[in-house]
Amino acid sequence: MTADGTLLAISDLHIGHQENREIVARMRPDSPQDWLLVAGDVAERFCDVEWALSVLAERFATVVWVPGNHELWTLPDDPVTLRGVARYDRLIELCRSLGVVTPEDPYPIWHGPGGPMLIAPLFLLYDYTFLPAGVTTKQEALTLAHETGVVCTDEFMLHADPYPCREAWCESRVSAAEQRLQACDPALPKVLVNHYPLVRTPTRILRYPIFAQWCGTERTADWHTRFGVAAVVYGHLHVPRTTWHDGVRFEEVSLGYPRERRVYGAALSRPRQILPDIGPRTEMWFGMGRL
Ligand SMILES: [Fe+2]
Ligand SMILES: [Fe+2]
Repeated sequence: MTADGTLLAISDLHIGHQENREIVARMRPDSPQDWLLVAGDVAERFCDVEWALSVLAERFATVVWVPGNHELWTLPDDPVTLRGVARYDRLIELCRSLGVVTPEDPYPIWHGPGGPMLIAPLFLLYDYTFLPAGVTTKQEALTLAHETGVVCTDEFMLHADPYPCREAWCESRVSAAEQRLQACDPALPKVLVNHYPLVRTPTRILRYPIFAQWCGTERTADWHTRFGVAAVVYGHLHVPRTTWHDGVRFEEVSLGYPRERRVYGAALSRPRQILPDIGPRTEMWFGMGRL
């Protein structure tokens, strides 16, 4: 139990899996001052996202959420049939009703141990620029993916309306977020929270490297060195670990699927401590690379 709270993070709760829903039902802060960063992929169905965020918002002093790709899917059996930007906007409305901080809100400042620190939740999507070796276009990369049988479900469920494509939506999101970060106090250290890893290197561990095209954008490759960043929090890859890139700490905090956790171990069922930083350490691995 800490006196002044801890900044915690988790992602990829995927509560469509009963085991994961039970983990969220049991998830509690150690201190009433704890904050929780939720870096996307809470669930696919709107009612599941609502349940999880409302449970967490009741327990933690502050909850900060960014969408993953799964929240943005429009499943045929979901009563909420909204697509693309309209679906995202509805999720923002939900968060506002619960007091959850989103990428559309002013960036909050963590004043607990390890602070002050600006917390910047980002929704940036991906744009197919993490291309496989020897490939120069999105179309080639997609063709290769179809040939190998590793195709992200986003291709069928994540609609970009009213944008013509997901990369156009990504372009708009990245440009807006870049402007906001440029306008922030450069002297105030930051934690960037995004569903995707901001740099490509962490995707090198994927069991299926072809999947990297759905994992981020080259446009954010220098954000961790440009904007006075103390830590980057992300998920999506389901490879929970701590790595350093140009001296900046990157925390992949995914809970992932039950079958993956049987490889990683039960300790990963808890949110990761982001602040205060637990101190110098070598790269920490929590499991095997999986999709
Ligand atoms: Fe996920
Ligand atoms: Fe994801």
